[in-house]
Amino acid sequence: MNPVDEILGPFARHGSAHFDEKDVTQLGHALQCAHQAEQAGASAAMITACLLHDVGHLINVDAGAAIDRGEDTEHEIRAQAYLAAWFDDDVLQPIRWHVDAKRYLTATDPIYFSTLSHGSVRSLEVQGGPFSKAEVAAFEAREHFQDAVQLRRWDETAKSPTAATPPLEHFRPYVEAALRSDKRPQA
Ligand SMILES: [Fe+2]
Repeated sequence: MNPVDEILGPFARHGSAHFDEKDVTQLGHALQCAHQAEQAGASAAMITACLLHDVGHLINVDAGAAIDRGEDTEHEIRAQAYLAAWFDDDVLQPIRWHVDAKRYLTATDPIYFSTLSHGSVRSLEVQGGPFSKAEVAAFEAREHFQDAVQLRRWDETAKSPTAATPPLEHFRPYVEAALRSDKRPQA
């Protein structure tokens, strides 16, 4: 199977699901996030990271029920494990740290907390709340931490019930360009 078909498969199968955001589907949320990255002139890796950042929800059959139970599904860790077969750290690390980026931003940006959606405030609690000073410093030492923070900002503004976006297929070339070199389809 073409690797991009395989990677995007969970969106075709489960993209119409709603989890912690009731106004937007998982596919709509992914497209809005990737569209913002594209419009900002981000790299193919970042656009891909934005598109795929919540795939950990889609590959977890218990995700919806677990969120309703108030549990942390560790979807960022599931996503990294799933995507590691195809991508390098420029895609994997912003996804791996996008939840911690929320904990980072709520500790360092006084305005950011007031912008969070209801679902984000609820999940912040089960994800551990704002970082301490030591956790902020440790986070800033991570490679790709700024990409994770940027992804997180686009994530938070990708929850509109009405935003127009290109379809999933529009983003296929970015996903293909972001593949690890040994995973790209041969021409
Ligand atoms: Fe998200």
